[in-house]
Amino acid sequence: MTIDRSERTEHTVLIAYASANGSTAEIAEFIGERMRDKGLHVRVAPVSENPDPARFEAVVLGSAVHNGEFLPEFAEYTERHGLALRMRPAWLFSVGMGPALRGPLGAPLRHFIPPAIADIRKHLCALGYRSFAGVLPRPDDRRTRIIVRLLGCRFADLRDWPAVSAWADSLAIWIDARLPQAPFPAVREP
Ligand SMILES: Cc1cc2nc3c(=O)[nH]c(=O)nc-3n(C[C@H](O)[C@H](O)[C@H](O)COP(=O)(O)O)c2cc1C
Repeated sequence: MTIDRSERTEHTVLIAYASANGSTAEIAEFIGERMRDKGLHVRVAPVSENPDPARFEAVVLGSAVHNGEFLPEFAEYTERHGLALRMRPAWLFSVGMGPALRGPLGAPLRHFIPPAIADIRKHLCALGYRSFAGVLPRPDDRRTRIIVRLLGCRFADLRDWPAVSAWADSLAIWIDARLPQAPFPAVREP
């Protein structure tokens, strides 16, 4: 009989997201792939499928930002599952223009967290929050175009994949190192 101390718990992670036009969904899938590469078991699902966070050991939550708020279905999901989300390690990310803001008007706003987002972060007791740049198509509305340009933002796919990778890797390392392993090592017959 040998005790196999290399046997480790397979940590399960939920990545639940809300996306209006697909860029947040792609970031969520990408984070999921990075975590799988690190040996975690990951389910990536839109909040519209109402995945149950109580079935997972850790949770990553992300939403597109529209008009200074997370998408309504995302806010509803965090409200509905508030207790389960607060009872396990949870991280939050947003996808918007923030990190892509430049120049005298944009730069001071780069790290501004809109109050509605700060409230959800607080409600979840999230271990960490990260704002990622998303995809900014050129809007039809001239007024919006002028505002966005004044904030130093380009109309383009602004996603910073190396930044997303680094964040995903840091969460995977945290989960692997900090979540408890199996209480007893697995025992194998020869
Ligand atoms: C109607 C609309 C409103 C938006 N409002 C904001 C905003 O208030 N703050 C922000 O940082 N980005 C805002 N954006 C930019 C989006 O967050 C960005 O395009 C993001 O990549 C969208 O994610 P999705 O493709 O998953 O829907 C807005 C985009 C749209 C279409």
